[in-house]
Amino acid sequence: MTSADQILGSTVPAELRSGTRIQAVGEPRHERGHLRSVFGAFATGITVVTARGDAPLGMTANSFTSVSLEPPLNLVCVDRTAAIHDVILRDQVFAVSVLSSGQEPLATYFASHSRPRGEEEFALVDSVPGPRTGVPVLAGALAWMECRLAAVYDGGDHSIFLGSVLDLGHGTGEHALLFHGGRFHRLLPGAA
Ligand SMILES: Cc1cc2nc3c(=O)[nH]c(=O)nc-3n(C[C@H](O)[C@H](O)[C@H](O)COP(=O)(O)O)c2cc1C
Repeated sequence: MTSADQILGSTVPAELRSGTRIQAVGEPRHERGHLRSVFGAFATGITVVTARGDAPLGMTANSFTSVSLEPPLNLVCVDRTAAIHDVILRDQVFAVSVLSSGQEPLATYFASHSRPRGEEEFALVDSVPGPRTGVPVLAGALAWMECRLAAVYDGGDHSIFLGSVLDLGHGTGEHALLFHGGRFHRLLPGAA
């Protein structure tokens, strides 16, 4: 039995299991900007996904989703061309920091292709090593999770990384940073 079988059980068709290439032959194509705009109508929080690598690295991601409580699973979709993609595949661990309202500069930093790389990437970032994996988690975040890579699914130009939660906690941040309509927003305390 593969780990995909263990996670998915036998009810999921074989063609939808981890490692199977998605076929979208003959389906309509959509203009990229329109796709972004329609997908962006869905308001999300913002995370920074981190990995250990030879030097720590991170990437802003709003595709994070909680998946299951028992067992504890989450997922994040990572662009196949992102620097962190192959590092997570290699190390098989990653961490997720859920950003708080004052952390927009970090969201912008970890979404910038021109940010410093290698030892410099975290030089000015306030972070602490996660207790289970040593993967950095960001100080001042709302919450953090350390994950073992449990499965990888094909997601077109992204890979869907299913994470098994090893450790987690609340951070010192209080209010959420949100992303909606292509812009960052702060969740105002008490706002409906
Ligand atoms: C608000 C926001 C959310 C993002 N969410 C994701 C995401 O979920 N997955 C992803 O692969 N890239 C996402 N990105 C883009 C990456 O953060 C960005 O392309 C990053 O530079 C990729 O790392 P690289 O520079 O190593 O390629 C997001 C960017 C922003 C601004």
